[in-house]
Amino acid sequence: MKQPKTISIIVATDENYAIGKNNELLCHLPNDLKYFKKVTKGHTVIMGQRTFESLPNGALPNRKNIVLTFDKDVRFPGCIMAYSIEDALRHCEGEQEVFFIGGGQVYKTAFEFADRLYITRIHHQFEGADTFFPEIKSSEWLLTQQEKHKADEKHAHDYTFLVYERKK
Ligand SMILES: NC(=O)c1ccc[n+]([C@@H]2O[C@H](COP(=O)([O-])OP(=O)(O)OC[C@H]3O[C@@H](n4cnc5c(N)ncnc54)[C@H](OP(=O)(O)O)[C@@H]3O)[C@@H](O)[C@H]2O)c1
Repeated sequence: MKQPKTISIIVATDENYAIGKNNELLCHLPNDLKYFKKVTKGHTVIMGQRTFESLPNGALPNRKNIVLTFDKDVRFPGCIMAYSIEDALRHCEGEQEVFFIGGGQVYKTAFEFADRLYITRIHHQFEGADTFFPEIKSSEWLLTQQEKHKADEKHAHDYTFLVYERKK
């Protein structure tokens, strides 16, 4: 199989690696949604069935949507269905960059396949989160980009856009 050139993960986590609660995001950060759109536009996005179900308008426009499920009878409009991480990647042979976009189960399994991480670190510790991202160890990942933002009237918390590359 000719793998995509770069396998990326994109996620927003709090200071404790929390990413979700009750199948929803932890908070609304409009600039993070814009950043997500800018980074993933034109590329393939791969997500778990629960994350797909949490999208307000179904498949994300201007991107190839792949949804992971173990249930071979399920179909979602505008999506390719895949039954393992490897199966999803087979649908992206030769592509420049593909993005795993969540949620917790998918991040956990896809983590070992990833070359690059786009992390939005929300500088807060949310109560009652039920879904988490794996720990990013500095022995395995090199921080290559960092862009800090302050809280404002639309963003309740400070946040930082971080990019990590896997160390060879
Ligand atoms: N902060 C962020 O950036 C971010 C991003 C995305 C999601 N989230 C949050 O994450 C939470 C959802 O995460 P989650 O862990 O509950 O669910 P999830 O990872 O989105 O979806 C889990 C489902 O995906 C399917 N699946 C997972 N791994 C698979 C594999 N290797 N092969 C085939 N199918 C697979 C299974 O579907 P079936 O049950 O159909 O077999 C499984 O039940 C929500 O709170 C959401 O808001 C946060």
